[in-house]
Amino acid sequence: MYTTFYRDNAIKAGIPENAEGEICWESPANIALIKYWGKETGQIPMNASLSFSLKKSVVRACMRYKANIKGEGGLLSFKVNGEENEAFARRIKDYLISLYPYFPCLGKLDLEIETHSTFPHSAGIASSAAAFSALALCLCSMEEALYNKETINEDFFRKASYMARLGSGSACRSVYDGFALWGETRHYQTGSKLFAAKLFEQDTDPVFNTLKDAILVADSSAKKVSSSGGHALMNQHLYRQSRIEQVELNLKKLLDALKEGDEKTFVEIVENEALTLHGLMMTSNPGYLLMKPGTLEMIEKIREFREETGINVGFTLDAGPNIHLIYFEKDAKNVRPFITTELVPHCEYGQWMDDQMGPGPKKINKL
Ligand code: PMV
Repeated sequence: MYTTFYRDNAIKAGIPENAEGEICWESPANIALIKYWGKETGQIPMNASLSFSLKKSVVRACMRYKANIKGEGGLLSFKVNGEENEAFARRIKDYLISLYPYFPCLGKLDLEIETHSTFPHSAGIASSAAAFSALALCLCSMEEALYNKETINEDFFRKASYMARLGSGSACRSVYDGFALWGETRHYQTGSKLFAAKLFEQDTDPVFNTLKDAILVADSSAKKVSSSGGHALMNQHLYRQSRIEQVELNLKKLLDALKEGDEKTFVEIVENEALTLHGLMMTSNPGYLLMKPGTLEMIEKIREFREETGINVGFTLDAGPNIHLIYFEKDAKNVRPFITTELVPHCEYGQWMDDQMGPGPKKINKL
């Protein structure tokens, strides 16, 4: 319904001949607790996922636009951290072309885009989620500026989430602060496959509002399998159906834990999801083993620490070897020394980043 809605309501009017301006947004990376793994055509997820947005790991994007009176507009330049990036520019060009049905104005504009990320590529954080979210927000704001609208409200973010999804699936969860849910589930009323939605405040106990995420870099080498390649492995996966059923069970338990302030169940489900994601990858055809010795060393340490201290701390992993240590702010004074003495020695060159749940995207004036 939203696809037809956005296409049918796309503003087909011309743009002012002297249209010119610049729009910038900053948007966070997000870390999934319930993992999105497997998709159908059109960036439709195989299952629902749930994540939270980070504070320090953000991408800033600036989009400069100028009317092209001949109607031959396009992407003139694309820079990442101050440098031209051909590979990413091609991806962005294709992305923008795919968005013409939603933003017909794109054909009449010359664009120059520049992005800057606060975290090193080697940290293995999905910069594409933060980048596509920032770009989608810029596009939605640019459209509003061109047609003299100003509606930064729920519909605005829903549209930005829809557009971000078309760039990189998990990007649709980055347009919100706090917890975001993407996909349909029996257990939450607002789930949609087309865009993410923020969990209602009354559905999360305040203990979860200040979650911490220490990103521990076990290995920074390039990914062995791309995201799209990884999702494709689920098409023929022997465990596909069981995975779809498991997500519903895990999502229900996690949503209940969030509501009730049940830290122990929260940690159990988060770890189960991370190991399931890797289990699915190991048992795909071809199979991938993305954990490294440092990853396993850290997992052992985390589990020992939890058993010895009774502190609810756990890990999650994306499709790579780096650990995201998830813990509660109230335990920070005990967990911090554990990170630096027990975990950091297993990190490549001692690299780690201390991050936490963040305030979501914001419009900015410059990079
Ligand atoms: O958005 P993509 O296509 O890069 O996929 C992200 C997949 C995971 O990071 C492994 C899980 C998730 O839900 O973010």
